[in-house]
Formats: sequence, structure tokens, C-alpha cells
Amino acid sequence: MWVRTGVVGFLGAALLAAQVASASSSDWQFIDGDAFTQRLAKQEPMLVAFVAPEDDLSKPLLPEWKKLRKELPYTAALNCTSIPAVCREAQVSSLPVIRLYQADGSMVRYRGPRRAAAIAPFIKRMVRPIVTELAAHEQSTFAKVDDIVIVAQLWEEDEALTEHFLHVAEEYRDRYTFGITSPQSSASGTVVCRNNPDDMEHTMSDLDRVGALEELLEKCTTPLVMPLTRRNELVFNTIAKSPVYYFSDDEADRQAYTNMVRPVAKAFSEYLLFATVDIDEYPLMAPTLGMQGRGLCLQNLHNGQIFHFPAGSALSAQAVQNFIVAVSEGKVQPWTGAAEGGRSHDEL
Ligand SMILES: *[C@@H]1O[C@H](CO)[C@@H](O)[C@H](O)[C@H]1NC(C)=O
Repeated sequence: MWVRTGVVGFLGAALLAAQVASASSSDWQFIDGDAFTQRLAKQEPMLVAFVAPEDDLSKPLLPEWKKLRKELPYTAALNCTSIPAVCREAQVSSLPVIRLYQADGSMVRYRGPRRAAAIAPFIKRMVRPIVTELAAHEQSTFAKVDDIVIVAQLWEEDEALTEHFLHVAEEYRDRYTFGITSPQSSASGTVVCRNNPDDMEHTMSDLDRVGALEELLEKCTTPLVMPLTRRNELVFNTIAKSPVYYFSDDEADRQAYTNMVRPVAKAFSEYLLFATVDIDEYPLMAPTLGMQGRGLCLQNLHNGQIFHFPAGSALSAQAVQNFIVAVSEGKVQPWTGAAEGGRSHDEL
């Protein structure tokens, strides 16, 4: 047996070497206009990247595209600099553009971040039915197929509820995965929403209430550690929790922090709102809070006082937790905001 494995291993290595060699000569592996038209005519699912490969906006997509190509059998890239007429015909304007052409002839634009880790799950969602019908025993497996999975347990008689659920699923299918099944007991209908990255589950039963389903989605899809974006920044002004900000200019670093701090965020979720902030996107925010470069601070919602996690000390879940406890026990001095003078000094 080990001999066969050895041979396969050797062939695998040879194949890999061949792939690496060809990849360096033609990175994008573009198809031409005719091939594109032919593949469209076949009406098979096809993920297409329209790019201007020498353009600065398109270049960062290449490494992500290579990752996608390994995962998905049906990708195609078009060099719109070389075949502009074909791209114009497809009504592509500002490049790069990513689209999924579906087996039924319809087309969906991809609007999320241009990263393989976000595009691949989007494709999987779009090739699923809008709502997957599930047998009882399939539920636990299905609950893991995506980051956010929403399963309705509804009676056939609940026509209005079912219809509303379908509407919501249609609207959000590009971001979340939806399923439907029959209730297990004689209970009334419920909807269960699972957030896998945060390992949390939310259930709603009073579905007749207006806006109940939307409320459930909002609650379930809000991550324990939120990346601050133009879309959600309002939440930080309206929510009655003290924010804990982590500033960093590096996405991988912010992700590592998110994974590390998640259990702490969960433990304090009633009082604190954990967020990560991209320094490059919000250059003025860190100085306002007295922060320079990477680092963590907590702002007291009630009196506005700002507490800095000691610069230079190692950031770990335990250290963050100790810091929060110390702040709550009044053992950490707030930032005095020396530059502004003012209120904090008066309180001393
Ligand atoms: C894309 O097309 C342009 C115009 O034909 C060509 O100059 C360029 O080398 C092509 N890029 C790649 C990466 O193939």
C-alpha cells in the first residue's frame, strides 16, 4: 500500500511542479471573447472576473483569483484591455468586476470584498436554492454550511410566515444561507439563526410580530467583534454599551485579534461592544482617543473617560480581560487628554 501512496505522491509532486511552472507564465489564464461566448451559451455556472490586469485596482485581485481557481472548477477571467468590445458588450464599466453567471441564464454581481475567503462562500450560497428544504436529520449538518445559517421550522399552514421568510431569504441570500423544515413537536413555528464564527445561536418564536424576523437577523449577524465600517459606525453612537476599540493598520492582525478576543467579547457582551478599526480608513479616530498606532482602548459610555491598554504589554485574551476588570474596579487611570486640557483635569 505504501508503494502506491509513494507513486501517487511522486506524480502529485510532478503535477504540482508543472502547475507552478505554467502559472508563472500566465497568471490570470485569460480566455478570449469567443471562448467566453461559447461558455455563456452552455449555460453552466461561471464565475467571471473582468479585469484590466495592468491597472492598480485589478492587480490585488490576482492572488485571490488564483485561490478561487483552485476551489472552483468554473472560473473565467477576461483581459478587458485586450478585448474591450467584449467587456463593453457585457456592460462592464469600472474594472475589476466579478460576476456569477448562473445555469438558468441569470447573472448576479458580486459586491462584497474582493477576497477569495468572501467570494467562495458567496458562490456556494448562490448555487444553493434560495431556501433549502431540510429533513429533520439534515439540520445539524446544514447549520454548519455557512457562517450564518437561518433555519425556519414552520407548519405548512403558516402560509403568511413562510412567504415572509422566503422574501427575507431572497433579499439576503447573497450573504447568508437559509433553510426550512417542519417543526419537530406540536410547537408553534420558530426560526433559528446560527452564527458559526461566534458559535452563538438565536431563536425566535413570536414570528407574528412585525419585524421579528429582521430583528433576529440583525441580532444574529452582528459579530461579537465588529469591524468598524461606514455602514455600521452609527451603531456605535446609538448602542448602550461601552466600546472597546482595537486599532491596527493590518487586516491579518485585526483578524488575529478578533479570533483571540472573541471569548472575552462574549463574556462581556452585555456591557461592552468590541470593535476593530482600520487606522488607514479612520486616521483621525485613534488620535482623538489618545492612541498612536496599534493598540487597544476602552471608552466609558457614561462619562466618556478613555482607558488605554498599557502600550508594550502583550495582548492576550487573559490580559484584555484583566484590563477590563481593572478598569471596572477603578484601578486604571483614564487618559487625561493632555492636549485638550479641560474636563479630565478638573476631576483630579
Ligand atoms: C492584457 O491585454 C493587453 C492589451 O492587449 C496586453 O498588453 C497585456 O499584456 C495583457 N495582460 C496580460 C496580463 O495578459
